[in-house]
Amino acid sequence: MAISTLPGGPTTGSWPKPWQRPEAVATGSGNGRLALRHVGKRYDVEGRRLAVLEDVSLEVNGGGFVSIVGPSGCGKSTLLRLVVGLEPCDRGEILVDGTVVRGIHRDRSIAFQDHRLLPWLTLAGNVSLALEGLGVPAAARQGRVSEVLHLVGLQDFADAFPHQLSGGMAQRGAIARALVRAPRILLLDEPFGALDAITRLRLQEELLRLWQARGVTTLLVTHDVEEALYLSDTVVVMQSTPGQIGARIEVPLPRPRDRTGEAFGTLRRQVLRAMGEGGALPGAGLH
Ligand SMILES: Nc1ncnc2c1ncn2[C@@H]1O[C@H](COP(=O)(O)OP(=O)(O)O)[C@@H](O)[C@H]1O
Ligand SMILES: [Mg+2]
Repeated sequence: MAISTLPGGPTTGSWPKPWQRPEAVATGSGNGRLALRHVGKRYDVEGRRLAVLEDVSLEVNGGGFVSIVGPSGCGKSTLLRLVVGLEPCDRGEILVDGTVVRGIHRDRSIAFQDHRLLPWLTLAGNVSLALEGLGVPAAARQGRVSEVLHLVGLQDFADAFPHQLSGGMAQRGAIARALVRAPRILLLDEPFGALDAITRLRLQEELLRLWQARGVTTLLVTHDVEEALYLSDTVVVMQSTPGQIGARIEVPLPRPRDRTGEAFGTLRRQVLRAMGEGGALPGAGLH
């Protein structure tokens, strides 16, 4: 569990260890339960107020896996930015284990479609950089970096530079960088969107393995309905203008899931129909 690697909360009654940042202690322990309550976000675009998200409410159990699908521009990335704490909500609130999100925090990490590894640092250097400012002692730092590189199967590429990695490897590196902080919540914004189909399938398996190994609450944005159904406990379908939750579809299938099975196909049609009703698919005559 990710939380097991986090320092103990205030219930321990002990003075924070050197690697504990005050806010990590203040947040206390928890299993990464995420709650969005009536979240709204507006932007000023050319003098006009654009409602990007309106009344978005969502609960993700600690250790749960939720995917978000929806048309381009419906506010999926904005939603993740609000959860990370890169921007404040205009309305409503976001809570992690009962504590309101106010800015970025080590308990939430994000990975994007482009790996964003720094080209002048090795893979290990990139991953290690994510620990900057967390006060992790140098000796422990190396151990944590090699642990996550092992977890994503890149232990032999610690000294490679990003240009020496394939697209899939670089994405795994980006996920390792997100996990090294031992977050309670992992946010993934179309992480496999730029990869070929085979690599994508392989990384889906890896992501499941990582999620199961670390028990980290995962919120994945994807364009791929099959990917969402294969991976998650719940698929959330968003609609646009303004971005709202149109449907929540539970996926009660045991893992590993059979993408070709009847139950999977039924759920797939259900998600596509919900997307069609939200206007995401033109004339979705799906049965
Ligand atoms: N910083 C910003 N300023 C103004 N408009 C923005 C900003 N970020 C996003 N938007 C607008 O918000 C809407 C949702 O964007 P985004 O969250 O990126 O959608 P998605 O990830 O679903 O494609 C889009 O219309 C986009 O142009
Ligand atoms: Mg986006």
